[in-house]
Amino acid sequence: MIHSRIAGTGSHLPEKVITNFDLEKMVDTTDEWIRSRTGIERRHVAADGETTVDLAEKAARRALEAAGVAPAEVDFIAFGTTTPDLVFPNCGTLLQQRLGCRGVPAFSLETACAGFMYALSIADKYIRCGEARRALVIGAETLSRITDWSDRSTAVLFADGAGAVVLEPSDAPGVLSTHLHSDGQYKDLLYCGSGVSRGFAARLAIVMAGNEVFKVAVTKLGSAVDEALAANGLDRSALDWLVPHQANIRIIQATARKLDMPMERVIVTVQEHGNTSAASVPLALDVAVRDGRIRRGDLLLLEAFGGGFTWGSALVRY
Ligand code: ACO
Repeated sequence: MIHSRIAGTGSHLPEKVITNFDLEKMVDTTDEWIRSRTGIERRHVAADGETTVDLAEKAARRALEAAGVAPAEVDFIAFGTTTPDLVFPNCGTLLQQRLGCRGVPAFSLETACAGFMYALSIADKYIRCGEARRALVIGAETLSRITDWSDRSTAVLFADGAGAVVLEPSDAPGVLSTHLHSDGQYKDLLYCGSGVSRGFAARLAIVMAGNEVFKVAVTKLGSAVDEALAANGLDRSALDWLVPHQANIRIIQATARKLDMPMERVIVTVQEHGNTSAASVPLALDVAVRDGRIRRGDLLLLEAFGGGFTWGSALVRY
């Protein structure tokens, strides 16, 4: 039986940093409010003209280098993003052209903050059925482009970045399971209300009922981690690391409590990265792999929750 395993990780953050103190000068907020309600201290924001695919290409090349795979060897690209460079061609195909892996399937999907979890799940299945051997899985965003910088309730949260993993076939399971969910009844709690078909509003902006999103996120992520462990017949004590979506430190802490995991076993980057949506899980994973916390053989639980709502998990033997 073929399994997929993560052969390498990579990430990239744009150079420009906006701190909470910078935001104090832009909207009616304070560093203290942002840190205590969200855990965020600073975030990276793309430069003018710097696009989602620009960030993704850098993350992808780092992941490929870590995996020892040449860009031209990639045979499948799954790209999660809600902030594509263009309506079409899709970001996966734009990236494919830059990497020079001509002719291979490449696509992007828009499941908000769960974008990477969806892309990972699909790529895992292509590897397992033998139709892909060098899959590039991306989560990348320029959320700053759909953030209303005059709205204090959202401007303090969102940010830009990219993360990538390379999946390869393996005899032993790397990706043990993925579980995906969505529930459109919550569409009005978190959305960006412009689009090609509906038409573009004068200002493209994320709208969020933060408090209600918070409550549903905690409940759904709690169920998602239970589901992942039950499907694998594992007790929560088997986990080495939780690699959660980085939206809010209080949501992360609630999921860690549910798993009875000390925060030392949870990868937290929200203070440095803010909420980078589809990029947040692969970014956090790459940080912890590169700083040596996550090692080969460790058991990881990845999870994310976003607009839609959409959410998902992956249990991974790294
Ligand atoms: N600075 C100061 N005060 C603020 C700010 C700010 N930046 N933003 C809101 N406030 C005020 C509000 O106006 C309100 O004031 P009031 O009591 O006078 O009415 C007060 O602070 C409390 O507001 P709440 O919204 O209740 O604050 P809460 O503690 O819920 O924190 C937050 C808000 C951080 C948004 C939180 O609800 C959250 O993280 N929600 C979940 C976000 C998330 O997980 N999103 C999912 C993924 S995102 C995606 O898919 C793209």
